[in-house]
Amino acid sequence: MCGIIGYCGRRPAVPLVIEGLSRLEYRGYDSSGIAYLQARRLELVRAEGKLAMLENKLAERSSSLATIGIGHTRWATHGLPVERNAHPHRSQNDALAIVHNGIIENYQELKDVLSSEGYVFSSDTDTEVLANLISFELDSLLVERFGQGAEFSKKVEEYIEKSNQNSSIFIEIMEEAFSNALKKAHGAYAVVLLSPMIPQNIFAARLAAPLLLGIGVGEFFVASDVPAFLPYTKDVVFLEDKEIAILSDSSYEVKSLETGHVVKKEIHHIPWDIQGAAKDGHKHFMLKEIMEQPKVLRDCLAGRVQDGKIVLPELDGIAVPTRIRILACGTSYNAGLWSQHYLESLAQIPVTVEIASEFRYRKPLLSTGELILVISQSGETADTLGALRLCKERGHTVLGLCNVLGSSLAREADATLYTQAGPEISVASTKAMLSQMVLLLLLSSYWGQRKNLYDDNAVKTRETILQGLISLPAVLDDLLPALRKKANELARKYAFAHSFFYLGRGLAYALALEGALKLKELSYIHAEAYASGEMKHGPIALIEPDFPTFVVAFDDEHFPKVRSGILEVQSRQGKVIALVQENCHVECEDMWYLPETSLPEFLALPAMQLFSYEMADYLGKDVDQPRNLAKSVTVE
Ligand code: G6P
Repeated sequence: MCGIIGYCGRRPAVPLVIEGLSRLEYRGYDSSGIAYLQARRLELVRAEGKLAMLENKLAERSSSLATIGIGHTRWATHGLPVERNAHPHRSQNDALAIVHNGIIENYQELKDVLSSEGYVFSSDTDTEVLANLISFELDSLLVERFGQGAEFSKKVEEYIEKSNQNSSIFIEIMEEAFSNALKKAHGAYAVVLLSPMIPQNIFAARLAAPLLLGIGVGEFFVASDVPAFLPYTKDVVFLEDKEIAILSDSSYEVKSLETGHVVKKEIHHIPWDIQGAAKDGHKHFMLKEIMEQPKVLRDCLAGRVQDGKIVLPELDGIAVPTRIRILACGTSYNAGLWSQHYLESLAQIPVTVEIASEFRYRKPLLSTGELILVISQSGETADTLGALRLCKERGHTVLGLCNVLGSSLAREADATLYTQAGPEISVASTKAMLSQMVLLLLLSSYWGQRKNLYDDNAVKTRETILQGLISLPAVLDDLLPALRKKANELARKYAFAHSFFYLGRGLAYALALEGALKLKELSYIHAEAYASGEMKHGPIALIEPDFPTFVVAFDDEHFPKVRSGILEVQSRQGKVIALVQENCHVECEDMWYLPETSLPEFLALPAMQLFSYEMADYLGKDVDQPRNLAKSVTVE
């Protein structure tokens, strides 16, 4: 979703802010902007569309003296994705500019009050309302102290020079104004402020939207996500809700919004390197992330299987649950749905899997002691966090499965298993799902192990699974080039299609859902997934020669039924791509064979990812940043 970066240091700020924004492009955006202080003047440049448009505009200006600046990539929520709605937004009197992620829910009430005070708005955004609210608070405080507001705030520097006033007084005043305004704003915000009145400082605050500080030497960053400043520092301070940060080029301070007291913060060292956030010679991040899945498997397993046993020390304090409720969105939901089979068979625990946004907006009934398993790559998806909070309020233990270190989910859950997949930059999730599946499989086996279950009821034994997992990286390493070649051939052959069905049964159903989601997201081809058994209850009516069906099936007890389903499609002239294991005997228009392994899901997933990737690339779509999508959906 929207991206934020702020820089306070001694180097030219504008190129650093632009570079930071380009590292946040993957979150998805439709416009961008930057504000900086050049010779104490607040300069603001914004542009619709890609970052290159903003850079073109900046090229016409001189900004080399600026050493402080803030930038934003916007994903429209309030108002069209046009320049006037792009961030930063300045206050009416030019005393300050802010960038903001999240939604100010009471913005209309605030706007009405400000309008009655004479404020005029030039955008449709809630952010401009917040900028003016801060400015309104500031004016009141300046009038109280100096008998002057509005225009005075812009001329404060001259005032300081002429009088004996200390500039720290103005930092205090700005802090008070910022806090007062934020206390009146309801909803969610990660907000960063720049003002000529405090030319050495950046202010930042968060409530239910991610914001973190990058701690450098003689320079500080504030950003919505680590990659924004990763080339400059790996030392990070995570802001908590209702905390304010004040940065300068020589120090930073974090305070509680409510009490105003200084909060001592821990500095975390991020283990990623910049290589992990680079394309590494691949045409797209998505391709890189698909192709590095053997490494992801290795990283994810590292230290977690020892002497045939699963070791998950993060779960030491958590009792083996009697019921589990899995809550997630998008691809993470599909991983959760897939894991239901393993949790029920290997750990013998009843599992319900729900879409977080549906769960949180009804009055869900949870059993006593039901463990909540929340899955999210980013750990910042608003609906998933909303569901997590609802469960915590009701006293349930929450286990998080997450990729991003220090994310809101990781901090709010009672325990967190990190998927260790490294930064996922492409908007469409690939390697994160694979790593979630590994961890979910380990988790299922781990709970079976803790319950001393002897696999009698399990579809696959714990031993087969562990051996399968350990051999997977090498198998996938060998297989990926062939999968890519086949995916490319199939994409060219089927690029004519306007719609696809994806069918799967049992373990393959969640993969069918994911295959369809990937195709939709990337190539904009309509794709629907069904449990194979449901096909005859309606969807089959749509089958005709130009409506292909992608079937994913494994060599298991479901296969005879899947084959019947394939025959039903074929007898209506439907073309079928069958992604199956070598021992699955069936004749289809296009057979795509996977080697016999105990865990074919881990081979089928990359195959389907590659099919969607090749399709989107062949059709000339924006693979890493599909239209209208955001990497992390931080609004509800
Ligand atoms: C967005 C992304 C999806 C992702 C979903 C859930 O819609 O585009 O790729 O699956 O959010 O994200 P999470 O970070 O919670 O896994």
